[in-house]
Amino acid sequence: MGSISVLFLVFMFLLAVDVKAQQNHSNVIPLGSWLSPIANRTSWLSPSGLFAFGFYPQGRKGFAIGIWMHTQPKNTIVWTANPDDPPVSSKATLNLTSDGMLLLRTEQGEENFIVTFLDEEGPEPADSASMHDSGNFVLYNNSSYVIWQSFDNPTDTILGGQNLSSGDELVSRSDHSSRRYCLKMRTNGNLVSSPVNSTDGSENAYWYVATFYGSGVKLSLNPRGFLRLTTYSSSLVILANNSYPGKKETSTIIYRAILDSDGIFKLYSHHFWGNSNTSSNVSLEWSSLHDQGEVRGFCGLNSYCTGTGSKAECRCYPGFHFMSPKNKLLGCYNNFSEDSCSKGPRIHYNIAASPNISWGDFPYSVQLINQENCYKSCLGDCYCRAAFYIYEDGTCNKFKLPLRYGRSQNSSVIAFFKVIQRNGGSLDDHNPVFLKDSKKKIILILSLTLGSIAFLCSVIAISCFFIYRHQVHRYRELSPENVNVEFAENFTLHSFSYNELENATDGFKEVLGEGSFGSVYKGYVSEANKTIVVKRLEKFVEEGERGFQAEMTAIGRTHHRNLVQLLGFCIEGSRKLLVYEYISNGSLADLLFKAKKRPLWKERVRITLEVARGIFYLHQECEVHIIHCNLKPQNILMDDTWTAKISDFGLARLSVPNQTRISMGLEGTSEYSAPEWQKNSPISVKADIYSFGVLLLEIVCCRGSIEVNVLTTDEILLSNWVYNCFVAGQLDKLVEDENVDMKTLERMVKVGLWCIQEDPALRPPMKNVILMLEGTVDIAVPPSPAISHS
Ligand SMILES: *[C@@H]1O[C@H](CO)[C@@H](O)[C@H](O)[C@H]1NC(C)=O
Ligand SMILES: *[C@@H]1O[C@H](CO)[C@@H](O)[C@H](O)[C@H]1NC(C)=O
Ligand SMILES: *[C@@H]1O[C@H](CO)[C@@H](O)[C@H](O)[C@H]1NC(C)=O
Ligand SMILES: *[C@@H]1O[C@H](CO)[C@@H](O)[C@H](O)[C@H]1NC(C)=O
Ligand SMILES: *[C@@H]1O[C@H](CO)[C@@H](O)[C@H](O)[C@H]1NC(C)=O
Ligand SMILES: *[C@@H]1O[C@H](CO)[C@@H](O)[C@H](O)[C@H]1NC(C)=O
Ligand SMILES: *[C@@H]1O[C@H](CO)[C@@H](O)[C@H](O)[C@H]1NC(C)=O
Ligand SMILES: *[C@@H]1O[C@H](CO)[C@@H](O)[C@H](O)[C@H]1NC(C)=O
Ligand SMILES: *[C@@H]1O[C@H](CO)[C@@H](O)[C@H](O)[C@H]1NC(C)=O
Ligand SMILES: *[C@@H]1O[C@H](CO)[C@@H](O)[C@H](O)[C@H]1NC(C)=O
Ligand SMILES: *[C@@H]1O[C@H](CO)[C@@H](O)[C@H](O)[C@H]1NC(C)=O
Ligand SMILES: *[C@@H]1O[C@H](CO)[C@@H](O)[C@H](O)[C@H]1NC(C)=O
Repeated sequence: MGSISVLFLVFMFLLAVDVKAQQNHSNVIPLGSWLSPIANRTSWLSPSGLFAFGFYPQGRKGFAIGIWMHTQPKNTIVWTANPDDPPVSSKATLNLTSDGMLLLRTEQGEENFIVTFLDEEGPEPADSASMHDSGNFVLYNNSSYVIWQSFDNPTDTILGGQNLSSGDELVSRSDHSSRRYCLKMRTNGNLVSSPVNSTDGSENAYWYVATFYGSGVKLSLNPRGFLRLTTYSSSLVILANNSYPGKKETSTIIYRAILDSDGIFKLYSHHFWGNSNTSSNVSLEWSSLHDQGEVRGFCGLNSYCTGTGSKAECRCYPGFHFMSPKNKLLGCYNNFSEDSCSKGPRIHYNIAASPNISWGDFPYSVQLINQENCYKSCLGDCYCRAAFYIYEDGTCNKFKLPLRYGRSQNSSVIAFFKVIQRNGGSLDDHNPVFLKDSKKKIILILSLTLGSIAFLCSVIAISCFFIYRHQVHRYRELSPENVNVEFAENFTLHSFSYNELENATDGFKEVLGEGSFGSVYKGYVSEANKTIVVKRLEKFVEEGERGFQAEMTAIGRTHHRNLVQLLGFCIEGSRKLLVYEYISNGSLADLLFKAKKRPLWKERVRITLEVARGIFYLHQECEVHIIHCNLKPQNILMDDTWTAKISDFGLARLSVPNQTRISMGLEGTSEYSAPEWQKNSPISVKADIYSFGVLLLEIVCCRGSIEVNVLTTDEILLSNWVYNCFVAGQLDKLVEDENVDMKTLERMVKVGLWCIQEDPALRPPMKNVILMLEGTVDIAVPPSPAISHS
């Protein structure tokens, strides 16, 4: 502690090599200047007087060093030097010393560097400093280069003109609660909010924007209030746009984006008018979330958030008590013995049910059973402390303690809690519903010996395996009504352990490819005598375990002969893997562009229809409608009977959260993606129709949509060439085959041209596409498609 603590270590030779100073001599702070909380000078002002750097009151009598904006009724702090340090007393001084260091001397005589800047040769001295009107405090070397600036070291705020670079984070701090949140610009290009100290796992993220663009992405707020994620060259995702109504041109507007102490990322505008800091108005322009309950970690363990906005509060689950009734944010406990599976006196449990409560964590078990069997299953399972049942997908999710990230919200879910049965005793909870009819059954279940429970477990395990082997054939028979309680656990998806998959793939040895979401491996499950494909999901975060499970269940329930079947998944911590059936004959891309012998015309027509039927199923026929978002010939696989099967569906939903409008970086750049990806417009099923159109024309012509080795420049862009041939009535130029049915060819070309229209509204829905391809309905003459590949 006596040693000098280095507060900020900035390697300027990395960051500011080319930043030529725009020194304004009206606000130069020369060497030898100093500040003190009680001296004549307590801060250095920016030329406009709106911003100041210096000592500000912190805590009861202390002071901190930082930058603030002069606002009423109270100044707005936008940056703090070493925010984790305790406040200093009024006797402290801050000097920009004659040898170019910014030095804080405390009352005790301790001397700390406020900022330190190193180059290859060691600390580089500053020559002057400046407080800018943008709110940036800058130190210059003697050739007027920026060697340190507060804009490169944000605490919880970024101002107009400031960026949050890859790897940097904002951390919210509050005096009142111990809760801390961070907003991190991850090096994978995703912007993520999560509680501080939580792991990077997706289960902790409560708000995020995914771009998948890698470390070139930064969060940028420009001086006009335009908040977005950008790379050096392009804007990827717009979070807030300054075109709000009612802006007064005459006033000075300062934009400020802050990760607030409530964990929500917000953009404020401050309007100053008249003589600078005399008066100002503030308004909230944008916020990442609107419901406090969505902020993970707002309520402590074993408690849940209820109410919205400022009325949000934390409550204990039935059977739990507050750790500290004074601070309800700290969470709740109950005094069950920790390990009820070990021998000991049998405790009689009851079940308390609370509708519309759920939480976000990994269940240790997911079953497809009905509601009654869900709580019975929990009662009969000594590991289970709580469960929730989701009506929508019919899953029973069982949990051990502690329960994290609880929420009460109107959703079709009911939670069950194991509570100790007491005679006449009452639980001090708000209206839990006790399930009476369970009593007899509990006694019955509890009267079973441990042995029978073990037997039950093994039966479940065996039946899971059995069902896993036969799920493809059995899925249609399974519905919540005809389920036979504990035994047929209806596990259409097998939950693999990481070890199992490691064994199956021989340590992830054989790489089949590199998909948009991570690497793909070949494996073999000897018990089931089945070759599998294991996809490691690396490049995204998603809503958390529950979201992931729900998505898996949704994908697992898709069954169509033109879709690749998901067999199971594995979630262990942040590891997420998907297991698919192995499709043996490669992809459509290989077939169309690489194979020596191209498929015959009739085969190509059949494949087109198969792909169309697969997409139609995803869009309209399966329970949860799925937009593929990444249709391309590489994602159409050919099985051993040369049937086309679509793969990689449902994953875009995992990576694109509902609450943010998002462009998915990598996907947005391919020639198969619809123009709306580039425009950040909402994505609908029509984006898949576009991709299908491009794919269809490629199948017709057996060539890529952009090809350079062609006879005339007219042929480079497939869409143009096809349209020109269509208009000229020379469709025969498109195909080299001999036995081409010209009527079918014309139909296919017309459908393809309709599908690639720039206006999504003009593209036909998949159902019509199929009817048109089959020749059931007539097809109007398509207009010229957009030239969207530049
Ligand atoms: C000032 O800093 C810049 C950038 O780090 C460096 O190139 C230049 O040599 C420095 N000037 C002096 C006089 O140290
Ligand atoms: C503050 O300013 C006054 C007059 O300008 C001067 O007399 C006094 O010494 C100053 N106080 C300090 C601590 O510098
Ligand atoms: C320097 O600051 C003054 C006062 O705010 C301003 O009038 C002037 O335009 C600035 N000069 C430059 C070069 O920025
Ligand atoms: C702004 O307010 C501060 C105190 O709040 C005052 O010292 C300063 O003179 C004001 N600046 C202007 C330009 O009014
Ligand atoms: C800072 O400057 C003040 C006034 O010149 C001086 O009394 C004090 O000792 C200086 N502190 C340091 C750490 O140089
Ligand atoms: C700038 O500072 C360096 C030491 O960091 C010194 O060697 C050099 O003479 C200075 N240049 C000027 C112009 O002051
Ligand atoms: C922030 O990013 C913008 C756009 O890339 C750039 O022009 C600006 O200089 C950056 N600001 C800082 C302080 O680095
Ligand atoms: C985060 O972890 C650090 C060290 O592990 C600990 O000192 C700090 O109190 C933790 N913060 C919170 C909010 O839990
Ligand atoms: C901002 O929004 C307005 C209206 O919503 C829109 O017209 C404008 O194009 C947007 N600006 C940008 C840069 O997206
Ligand atoms: C600022 O707010 C006050 C009261 O909230 C309002 O009367 C006034 O019109 C606002 N001024 C501007 C410029 O928006
Ligand atoms: C749990 O704690 C309560 C008081 O907080 C006590 O009355 C009860 O006996 C305890 N139950 C068990 C099983 O320890
Ligand atoms: C739970 O949410 C549903 C809406 O999904 C609502 O109809 C129902 O009234 C809620 N139940 C309770 C007890 O709040």
